Amino acid sequence: MSSELLKGKTAIVTGGGTLFGTAVAKTLIADGAKVMIVEINSESGAAAAKACGPDAIFFHGDITDDAAISTMIEAAMSAWGRIDILVNLACSYDDAGADSTRAQWTNTLNVNISSAAMLGAAVRPHMKKQGGGSIINLTSISSSVAQTGRWIYPVSKAALVQLTRNMAMDYAGDKIRVNSVSPGWTWSAIMDMLSKGDRKKTDRVAAPFHLTGRVGDPEEVANVISFLASDKASVVTGADWAADGGYSAMGPEQATPAIPLLEA
Ligand SMILES: NC(=O)c1ccc[n+]([C@@H]2O[C@H](COP(=O)([O-])OP(=O)(O)OC[C@H]3O[C@@H](n4cnc5c(N)ncnc54)[C@H](O)[C@@H]3O)[C@@H](O)[C@H]2O)c1
Repeated sequence: MSSELLKGKTAIVTGGGTLFGTAVAKTLIADGAKVMIVEINSESGAAAAKACGPDAIFFHGDITDDAAISTMIEAAMSAWGRIDILVNLACSYDDAGADSTRAQWTNTLNVNISSAAMLGAAVRPHMKKQGGGSIINLTSISSSVAQTGRWIYPVSKAALVQLTRNMAMDYAGDKIRVNSVSPGWTWSAIMDMLSKGDRKKTDRVAAPFHLTGRVGDPEEVANVISFLASDKASVVTGADWAADGGYSAMGPEQATPAIPLLEA
């Protein structure tokens, strides 16, 4: 479905070479934006930009490299003359839970948190000059629950929820809104790989902890991102938006009546 929600706007989407990131880029384009896909994987990034069509450009770079960030911003400005939207989507899942090494902590936090802050700082002067902008950070339901064997990734996402508030506070004077979107289980490269492409099985496994009884589609999460990026969300900043099929609304009793068990 296409709209004119983002007509005339331009967006940078990090991690755009993955199934999820490409769906976000395609949705922003369908809503009228021009998109720069930023990706460390040159093959998937170039393929994603091709699949997105003429309104997409590809920047091959590493978001943990400040020089690459500067070149990326210069490339976006020389292509479009403005940057309206930044979607911090790229992430690292490298996490060995309690056995994580210092290097794993440093690298994963660097990709998932520090880079989002550095990218925000890099787009800020341009957004300020043009009268505002919108930044969306991809967080996760993992930011507020404990999951077995995972330490660094959930900590990074919790920190990103807080960073979203900090950015929103200090960028508000420049008319830059900053929000985060927390997906639940979403059909993505990792789900595709782990289930060997079996969407039905993935939905079955996800059903007990999502009120919707299935994983989300990346396009469904992308629609929330598109709204937050648009002027329709002009009153929304500093907020974490659940796009999780009701995962975070459900308690430990899940969706089955527990009290009757007392009488059984
Ligand atoms: N998949 C899910 O179910 C799910 C659930 C909740 C939140 N999320 C969030 O959604 C986002 C996308 O998740 P995904 O599962 O599609 O992840 P993914 O691992 O498939 O994709 C991440 C992309 O980022 C790129 N990337 C990694 N490091 C980079 C770097 N240094 N510079 C540039 N690009 C880099 C990777 O090459 C990859 O294409 C992430 O922020 C993730 O935390 C995903």
